[in-house]
This record gives sequence, C-alpha cells and structure tokens, in this order.
Amino acid sequence: MRLFPGVVSTLVVAGLVLAAVSAQADKGVVGENLELRQTLEKRMDAIRADREAYEQIMNDGRDRTILCKTCHGEDGMAVKEGTPNLAGQNPVYIVDQFQRFGDGRRYDFFMAQLAKSFDDEEKIKIALYYASMPNAASGGGKVELMGQGKALFERSCTECHGSDGKGQEGYARLAGQRPEYVTKMLKEFKERTGRRNNPWMSGVALKLSDTDMEALAAYIASLK
Ligand code: HEC
Ligand code: HEC
Repeated sequence: MRLFPGVVSTLVVAGLVLAAVSAQADKGVVGENLELRQTLEKRMDAIRADREAYEQIMNDGRDRTILCKTCHGEDGMAVKEGTPNLAGQNPVYIVDQFQRFGDGRRYDFFMAQLAKSFDDEEKIKIALYYASMPNAASGGGKVELMGQGKALFERSCTECHGSDGKGQEGYARLAGQRPEYVTKMLKEFKERTGRRNNPWMSGVALKLSDTDMEALAAYIASLK
C-alpha cells in the first residue's frame, strides 16, 4: 500500500515529462516559429489591405536587395551554383532563416554577416519583396530519375512542404528549387555537418540514399 502513492506520482511525473516532450516535438515542426508566423501573418494582412504601404514595402525591399542580386539573381532566381532561388519563397520561412543565420542555428559565414546587419522590420520587407516574385521551374538534375523522385516526394515530403511543394505555414517552398542546392541541403541535414540543424529534416534525410536525393532534386526542380 505504501508504494501506491509513489507509483501514482511516478506516473504523474512520467505523464508530465511525456507532455513536455510532445510539446517540444510540436514546437519543432510548426510551433518553433508559431509566434513569428502569427506576427508576420498579421503584418502581411495589414499590408495587403493598404496599397500604399504595400508599394512602400516593395520599394524598400528593392533598395535593400541590391547586393543580393549577384548571387540570388535580379528576379530572385539564383545565378550562382549552390545558391537558392528566393522568388516565391514563403516569407515566414525567409524571416525564420534570417533569424537562424543571425543566431548561428544555421551556419553560413557570408549569410550570417548579412543577417546580422538587418533589423526585424528589414527582414520582413525583404521577405515580402522576394515572396511577391513569380517563381519558375529551375529544371535540370538527373531527369531520368524523375519518376522515382515523384513517388518519393509524394510519400515523404508533402506532409510538411505541401502537396505541390509550394510550402505552407512556416515550411519552405521547394517547388522549382535548384537541384544542386536541394541535394546539398539534404546532405547537410543527413550528415549533420552542423551547418543546418533541424531534427525533423535530419530524421527525413537519414533515410535517403544519394540516388534518392538526386531523384527528389530532379523532381522538385521540375515543379512550378
Ligand atoms: C555571395 C553570394 C550571396 C549573396 C550576395 C547573398 N546570398 Fe543569400 N545565400 C547564398 C548562399 C550560398 C546561400 C545558401 C547558404 C547555405 O549553404 O546554407 C544563401 C541563402 C540565403 C537564404 C536562405 C534561403 C533558403 O532557401 O533557405 C536567404 C533567405 C538569403 N540567402 C537571402 C539573401 C539576401 C536577402 C541577400 C542580400 C541582402 C543575400 N542572400 C545575399 C549566397 C548569397
Ligand atoms: C516533418 C516535416 C518535414 C518533412 C516530412 C520534410 N521536411 Fe523538409 N524541411 C522541414 C523543415 C522544418 C525545414 C526547415 C529546416 C531549417 O529551418 O533549417 C525543411 C527544409 C527543407 C529543405 C531546405 C529548403 C531550403 O530552401 O533551404 C529541403 C531541401 C527540404 N526540406 C527537403 C525535403 C524533402 C525532399 C522531403 C521529403 C523527402 C522533406 N523535406 C520532408 C520539415 C520537413
């Protein structure tokens, strides 16, 4: 009988720990940037309702991205190997990545310096500016693996990145992304090099072979 309260409290503690772990898990997928997302969504709704404010943001965005064109292209379609397209990218994802570059959760020397030079308002403007640009399919990669890539994508990626790969909530748009960039990122997640840290993506990437990655990259590059 003496044991009983002990067992109960152990169960209670175990329950609390489990609840905490699953709250943490939720946080990882969509919750980690929930606050950011909600703030941004409110900001975007306000901007959309105000034509003048929207035009002002587009102008400010253009001014602040003069430096970016050499790598990310005039129209947000990257012109350098290993550089991602930003056109049509989910603005919440862009701001979130700026935060990550800035605080070191994502490592890239150059992008980190840049991210640190922008305040939150500038990050929002830049993100909205790129998000407004039309995206095109980059194409390329191992097109002979397209069918395999499509099947794999539909099975393992749409839950978070959307059925058409256009991203949703805070998740990255993948549709149309450059194939060599996608392969590179999947490797970073899989090998946990420390340049990109995300337990969810690492969990996904760990199951992928090099051929799977190339197949996925070719399919993703073909999407518009
Ligand atoms: C010298 C080339 C270069 C310039 C200039 C540059 N970037 Fe980048 N950018 C990169 C590379 C390379 C990456 C990928 C980094 C990695 O490997 O993680 C990147 C990644 C990004 C990402 C993450 C996108 C994603 O899909 O995850 C954003 C957002 C971004 N850059 C915005 C900008 C903005 C805004 C500017 C201008 C203020 C800029 N970059 C200037 C090379 C550049
Ligand atoms: C459980 C949710 C989830 C699933 C399933 C998932 N992803 Fe992701 N993915 C994410 C998250 C979260 C990020 C952003 C990680 C970060 O912030 O560094 C991401 C980022 C990426 C990026 C980097 C995008 C960029 O612009 O830099 C690529 C590429 C990617 N995922 C490909 C895939 C592919 C291919 C699949 C299927 C094989 C997949 N993902 C399945 C959650 C997921």
